[in-house]
Amino acid sequence: MKSKLHAIAAAMLLLPVCLAQNPDWFPKKDMLTIGTYYYPEAWPEAEWPRDMANIRKLGMEYVHMGEFAWVFMEPEEGKFDFSWLEKNVELASKDGLKVVLCTPSATPPAWLVKKHPEVLMVDANGRTMQHGSREQGDWSSPLYREYVGKIDTELAKKFGHDPRVWGWQIDNELSHYGKRYSYSPAAAAKFREWLKEKYGTVDRLNQDWGGAFWSMNYQTFDQIEIPNPEVLVADPSPHAVLDFDRWFAHEAADYIAFQVRTLRQYTQNQWMTTNFMTLHEDVDPALSANTLDVFSWTHYPVHGDNGEGALGFRLGSGEVMSFMHDFMRPFTGISGPMELQPGQVNWGEVNPWPQPGAIHMWLLRAFGAGARLVCTYRYRQPLFGSELYHKGLAETDGVTPSPGGREYAQAMADVVELRKHYDPNAKEPRDYASRKTAFLISYDNRWDISNHKQTTRWNTEAHWMRYYRALKSAMVPIDVLPPEKDFSQYPFVIAPAYQLVSEELVGKWTSYVENGGHLILTCRTGQKDMAGHLREAPWAAAILPLIGARIPIYDVLPGFVNGHVTSLGTSYAWGSWADILEPDSGTQVLATYADQFYAGKAAAVNRKLGKGTVTYIGVDTLDGELERALIHKIYDDAGAKPANLAPNFLVDWRDGFWVATNFASQSEKIPAGAGAQILVGEREVVPGGATVWMER
Ligand code: GAL
Repeated sequence: MKSKLHAIAAAMLLLPVCLAQNPDWFPKKDMLTIGTYYYPEAWPEAEWPRDMANIRKLGMEYVHMGEFAWVFMEPEEGKFDFSWLEKNVELASKDGLKVVLCTPSATPPAWLVKKHPEVLMVDANGRTMQHGSREQGDWSSPLYREYVGKIDTELAKKFGHDPRVWGWQIDNELSHYGKRYSYSPAAAAKFREWLKEKYGTVDRLNQDWGGAFWSMNYQTFDQIEIPNPEVLVADPSPHAVLDFDRWFAHEAADYIAFQVRTLRQYTQNQWMTTNFMTLHEDVDPALSANTLDVFSWTHYPVHGDNGEGALGFRLGSGEVMSFMHDFMRPFTGISGPMELQPGQVNWGEVNPWPQPGAIHMWLLRAFGAGARLVCTYRYRQPLFGSELYHKGLAETDGVTPSPGGREYAQAMADVVELRKHYDPNAKEPRDYASRKTAFLISYDNRWDISNHKQTTRWNTEAHWMRYYRALKSAMVPIDVLPPEKDFSQYPFVIAPAYQLVSEELVGKWTSYVENGGHLILTCRTGQKDMAGHLREAPWAAAILPLIGARIPIYDVLPGFVNGHVTSLGTSYAWGSWADILEPDSGTQVLATYADQFYAGKAAAVNRKLGKGTVTYIGVDTLDGELERALIHKIYDDAGAKPANLAPNFLVDWRDGFWVATNFASQSEKIPAGAGAQILVGEREVVPGGATVWMER
């Protein structure tokens, strides 16, 4: 078992790294680069040179401009003015800053929407949105796309061959924020087109959507509307909603791809990204896997009561932050947060000050997690507009570095120092690599569960995080993988709450295990086929031969009752989901229900299959401690030597450096050898602290 594990780990080291088109965009030896947003259109021209010079003085290496500036780029239809932007590109480059430009499609100008109100999105109540905010454009409107295409083309003609411009961001946080979806006639028409393409005949759609339930059959595609809870008396077909979720994400990816194609007609040697949102459910980054060179996202860790422990509200969740890195990095190998908080924000329910040091720690977390870029939102604190009270790297006087600004400068200075120790031949430590884990997620599962949770106590992302935490406490390097990615080379694979499975996926899981892999499945997995139907077979039939158990029932509990499970002599409370398992002979029981009418039945099981093992953990506990204990046992039994770090104390290896970041509310010691060379921080890491070291 152990030698097989090491053989797989060794093979992992030889896997080709998926490179973007031009690796020189982000030289490996620079490891991480940090930049900031700047809005020249909002500041007097006389201040541009000073601001740009001060950005560089803080150590920033690039500047990001233009994503909300459409009316300044095209003040009148067909009249383009890039002179102000050109001046700023020049100032930036003179100061040694690279430039990221953005397409302004998130903010259509007033002249456009007055002339063509049909480019505006329509909310669930049928109300057309107005000018006066952002993301009111309807991506499905052919006319809106035409206008976006024009401005993008002009931008690309002007800057596409400009060596001062390094890369491009498409739109901004593609979404309609609180309004979520557009229900415009254009969106409905495109949804129907997509369905026609998917199903060919309306009969096939009726079958997948369960038209024989409540007489919902359609006779023609034209009869279909977007399932809209505001105009439906009772629940819609969950299969229709699942398809709508799929279509919406597909439409967003199509809009990104359309803008990338438009820019690429005139760009040369410039990379493309868009800034996805952290854990956002509606837009699936995996659908842009073949479109973008760089995967970036926006992350504001501190904006209220998020985070846990006494200081969690000032530190944010290390695990959510780390998860986003592990999710975005595997797409092309070039990733990083495009917007990272520089201090207090203005839009949370309450907007506390981050713990001193936390911002620096977030930046070093990015370093440890293998990010190649970080950008902060924003350089100057705004003096007007809806984001008053939002800190920047500079204070309201426009020049004094804010506390967050000083932490950015410190982190950049640290990275510059660490670059001196960069070793292109550094080898991932063997034990660490032997724990490498593929964490499988699919948006189909997220959507399908959201459409039919069965209990309000269930939270898919919290479920993921309980396992993610357990793995990180064992110091496991993780790649979060979407369904299309090959996981066969990872020594461990986990698929939490993987509700929709095809026979093909179960086949892949089975041969993965037979060949020596360790597979961990968790509750709700395998209940449905890809249309979201139950199978005409025993519950979760598709995975039963694989897990070596039956799942005759599952249970969920009301909020005023908790159930209990015992494992290895410890009791754990649960409330949201319990699969009650009946193991086949030869399957080992890892945890048992302690109460309810199924007391004594199995809650988690494990079996050997071929050269590997399968574990099924059927219960979702309140605090994730059972999951943590079982994960440690699985890695231990497989000889992968799990570490035992405190929750929210994260340790990663990157390019020869060990990096520890402490999001916990108490100090923690780094797991370093006596001879370790400490390059940043201390052996004892305070809350909000970060330490980087090299083992000798
Ligand atoms: C982000 C958004 C930015 C800005 C920022 C403020 O979500 O992408 O444009 O609004 O929030 O924190």
